[in-house]
Amino acid sequence: MRVVAAITGASGLILGERVVEELAGIKAKVYVIISDGALKIREYEPFNLEKVESLSCKLYREDELDAEIASSSFNIDSMIIAPCSMKTLSSIANGFSDNLVSRAAENVLKLNKKLVVAPRDTPLSLNAIENMRKLKLQDALIVPPNMAYYYKPESIDDITNFFVGKLLDSLGVENKLYRRWGGTR
Ligand SMILES: Cc1cc2nc3c(=O)[nH]c(=O)nc-3n(C[C@H](O)[C@H](O)[C@H](O)COP(=O)(O)O)c2cc1C
Repeated sequence: MRVVAAITGASGLILGERVVEELAGIKAKVYVIISDGALKIREYEPFNLEKVESLSCKLYREDELDAEIASSSFNIDSMIIAPCSMKTLSSIANGFSDNLVSRAAENVLKLNKKLVVAPRDTPLSLNAIENMRKLKLQDALIVPPNMAYYYKPESIDDITNFFVGKLLDSLGVENKLYRRWGGTR
């Protein structure tokens, strides 16, 4: 399995780190793009860039438009953007491919491959909602890191694992990162 994993400038960089960790754990080949926005947020949130780099096949900066993954001839199975900023959401939804994240996503969309996006912002602007709609119409999976309380999380790790589990589910990767609803009887 070959996956492009982009980590962009929204809160929740740890989601990107954990996704890369889980994918590397099942021996997937992970090509990671880190945006400049994400590198800025790294100053304020837990995120281990060195670990992410060591788990990835290659780590790219957003301006590397000459990278192999900028071409649709580079064969990948799917792409995940977690967390996804409203700016990156907009650029992908509107085909404005000015960096490696939006360009790689454009390739995935034009080949009808799987694109999983974890947009994070609250509250949402009408633009953001419209952009999610546009991406959904192109069959992207929109998986915002929205809290649930019914499984009684006890720690930030529990909450993170719930989100990462949902993201991996959307990629089609089996996982036991959260307790699934088992029905009431
Ligand atoms: C500490 C911090 C937290 C931020 N959190 C968010 C966020 O949760 N969602 C969002 O859309 N933008 C957020 N931003 C703004 C984006 O980082 C900014 O719009 C940036 O241009 C996104 O670029 P990128 O998508 O290329 O990484 C945040 C910025 C900072 C400095």
